[in-house]
Amino acid sequence: MSKISNMSRHWLALLLATLALIIGMTATAAPAAVAAPDRYGADAAEEIMRAGGNAVDAAVAVAFALAVTYPEAGNLGGGGLATLVMNGRSYFLDYRERAPGHASAGMYLDAAGAVIPDASMVGARAAAVPGTVMGLWQMHRKFGRLAWRRDLAPAVKLAKDGYTVSEPQAEHARAVIESLAGRTNFADYFRLQAGQNLRQPELAATLARIARAGVNDFYRGRTAAIMVAEMRRQGGLIDAQDLADYRAIWRAPLTASWAGYTVITAPPPSSGGIALVQLLKMKQLAAPLFAGLGLNTPQYVHLLAELEKPVFADRAEYLGDPDYTKVPVERLIDDAYMAARVGAISKDRPTATAAVGPGLAEHHQTTHFSIIDRWGNAVSNTYTLNDDFGARAIVRGAGFLLNNEMDDFSIKPGTPNMYGVVGGAANAIAPGKRPLSSMTPTLLVRDGHVEMVIGTPGGSRIFTSVFQVISNWHDFGMSLTAAVAAVRVHHQLLPSQVIFQEPYAQLDAATIAALEQRGYKLEQQDYNGDIQAIAVRGGEVTAAPDPRGTGVGRVIH
Ligand code: DON
Repeated sequence: MSKISNMSRHWLALLLATLALIIGMTATAAPAAVAAPDRYGADAAEEIMRAGGNAVDAAVAVAFALAVTYPEAGNLGGGGLATLVMNGRSYFLDYRERAPGHASAGMYLDAAGAVIPDASMVGARAAAVPGTVMGLWQMHRKFGRLAWRRDLAPAVKLAKDGYTVSEPQAEHARAVIESLAGRTNFADYFRLQAGQNLRQPELAATLARIARAGVNDFYRGRTAAIMVAEMRRQGGLIDAQDLADYRAIWRAPLTASWAGYTVITAPPPSSGGIALVQLLKMKQLAAPLFAGLGLNTPQYVHLLAELEKPVFADRAEYLGDPDYTKVPVERLIDDAYMAARVGAISKDRPTATAAVGPGLAEHHQTTHFSIIDRWGNAVSNTYTLNDDFGARAIVRGAGFLLNNEMDDFSIKPGTPNMYGVVGGAANAIAPGKRPLSSMTPTLLVRDGHVEMVIGTPGGSRIFTSVFQVISNWHDFGMSLTAAVAAVRVHHQLLPSQVIFQEPYAQLDAATIAALEQRGYKLEQQDYNGDIQAIAVRGGEVTAAPDPRGTGVGRVIH
């Protein structure tokens, strides 16, 4: 008898030791990670994943938390795109805003057909129907492990108890207030002091209602009614029907093979995935031209600009909401087409802007976070109000900012939007249509495992930034941290021969002189993205927030 119990004790001890080993191994083999644009976002992800939540629970928690602590871009009143790998399968969720039912192609033009300054950018009339709450709800319905209310808890608490306003945020809000000169109600809510504890009671009540009543509150309930009342006050177009009709859409992600990876990224209504795949493929096809070139040397920057020209020409001509315009996705990323485009680039002198057109034979403050959980599921999420603080107008009584995503439409053919990009019929305003995006939430998968989660804000700079970081990391074998920090440049066909650089990290004087010699104009832009990336290489997980921003990366063991 005692022998048997000794034996079973022995087996029990062995079993426990084995279990401990397995648990220990799992913990070291697969830590979770997050890269988010502020520490409150990273905290929310960590709290939810420690409570047993998966990558989707964490994404929901981060997105709602940033709607409180990062009003520049985190939002309830905007929209976004998410690329996911869950249980080994890839998914894409389009929760982009839609034009209101009463929107029309000429709505931002005066009687003479001229663009009314700021009309598509400031105030409630610039807002498209928000998609964020619906998107997060649908994502949670399909994949969440924890209760919806649990995932919203960090955000509710931050809105109710407050968070600490950072210096850059206070400064930014002050500059916006100055430029608005009282045109909207922004100053009533966002006169901020650095270091202040900002409590947002209206927003806390809205979040508590959404936590309790779910998505219906926002699209058909109390919050919907408050939003429609605000539209009446400000002359906005969104009505109860627009809200009731809003749906996020699960679309097939855009996938492509590149360098042994499956690139999983954003399809239309974003231009980002197509552009990213075009850039990656063209750089690979142009490998002989790139051979031996140092990163960001004059010839390297010239070749990047040459690759970017046809990408932006195609974007302006072919891309728009796929539910309204037939977008020739496969043809745009076809290897033979890419080879033809590469064949036309100029080896040394910049090709004249006018000589670069769309190439197919016939015509027919955003923010990003990246999450990977201990099961290897991943969410790459970019969402936005468009401009920093969106339309700079708040839904009074509900405490959240409205987007100005209508400016992402081509409001007049050939007229540049706030990012300087143009478009035509494919991206013209129509009721219910989604404006063309550049957001590029992306995953790189190899042998069934996610090896990179990446994305950034930056408008038309988004996909050129994602492209440069992937290329630095892969082609130059840099660490993820170094790849994110490296100098980034940007060219977008228009303005002609302009290469943008940014204060954070500059090309050196000799490189600038050499590029100017070739006919390029170097211009400063104040901002070139805020990459949030995670890489898994040889079992090691790295979370790399962009040193250009206030992001926090965390590996959670
Ligand atoms: O969807 C888009 O492409 C834009 N609305 C993104 C805006 C953005 O990235 C602003 N960030 N600086």
